[in-house]
Amino acid sequence: MDLSTEYLGLKLANPLVPSASPLSRDLDTVKKLEDAGASALVMYSLFEEEVREEGHLMDAYMYSQDIGHNEADGYLPTSEAYQTKTDEYLAHIFSLKQALDIPVIASLNGVTTGGWIDHALEIQQAGADALELNVYYIAADIQQSGREVEQLYLDLLIEMRKHISIPLVMKLSPYFSSVSNVVRELQQHGVNGVSLFNRFYQPGIDLETLGIIPELNLSTSHESLLAMRWIGILYGQVDLSLAATGGIHTAEDVLRMLLSGADVTHLCSTLLKNGPGQISIILSEMQAWMEEHEYDSVSQLKGSVSKLHASEPAAFERCNYLEVIRSYKT
Ligand SMILES: Cc1cc2nc3c(=O)[nH]c(=O)nc-3n(C[C@H](O)[C@H](O)[C@H](O)COP(=O)(O)O)c2cc1C
Repeated sequence: MDLSTEYLGLKLANPLVPSASPLSRDLDTVKKLEDAGASALVMYSLFEEEVREEGHLMDAYMYSQDIGHNEADGYLPTSEAYQTKTDEYLAHIFSLKQALDIPVIASLNGVTTGGWIDHALEIQQAGADALELNVYYIAADIQQSGREVEQLYLDLLIEMRKHISIPLVMKLSPYFSSVSNVVRELQQHGVNGVSLFNRFYQPGIDLETLGIIPELNLSTSHESLLAMRWIGILYGQVDLSLAATGGIHTAEDVLRMLLSGADVTHLCSTLLKNGPGQISIILSEMQAWMEEHEYDSVSQLKGSVSKLHASEPAAFERCNYLEVIRSYKT
């Protein structure tokens, strides 16, 4: 049975890739993920806000506290001795590359172009096999048009592409007026893949304190339907790698994504909940299903239930909306 797949030009043993999460912080855990069958690893993100905040703090320590007494100044930390978040991240890429045989995909999270290019260059030099850009942008400015938001993604990519030669993948929001058009434009500007979709965390309100409270709930399989649908629409229409992320917990979820056209599936909540061993369970259940249904390879499965192969593409797009609504029995 050939489970191999190609993602961002990398040949992977199978389509199961742990997505960005705290699991990649610990070397023992990532070894377990690899042993269980993970075919590549996406690292936790280096966050633009964290790096910027740290820069301000560093400036405050180094310059604002200069009290003018030479002896006392000598006790202040020197910039060479201080390990920044970026230094830590780069060192971790190096350790992961030493510890693992599978490709390591680094991740940057932010929105502005400026600082990113330098960090991306450093990440490339540290040996990452590819870079995922997570543009976690909330379009809350009422003056900003949809086109301007899209331009923000494009500008970032254009700048990155000028300097970065390793494969780039963008983790996208599902909230574009035309997801497919945005993906096409990103492809034209040199992105190697898209990861669909970023999961936005919606804060709640505490009714006692009336404060805004962050809420982090792990996903359920049901959430995978959103990415599955868009991957099914995009497959065959764009020439880049398609990664599915969000709500992929079981072998069934993975198989559905592959049938829609995904090249890889990114796993997070299921690994946080069930541990690294979940990968080997999914792999063996996938193989059992493929044997039973007489598939020899993942490439045979890929995209066979996409819009491209639908007998009625228009119905595929609207997903028989009327039938769905009518099927509900009160
Ligand atoms: C605790 C936690 C930490 C995460 N950290 C990151 C991160 O650093 N960068 C990132 O791009 N996504 C991060 N994610 C998002 C996941 O990579 C993934 O896209 C999302 O959880 C949806 O996948 P899932 O349904 O399998 O959980 C994180 C998710 C969780 C639950």
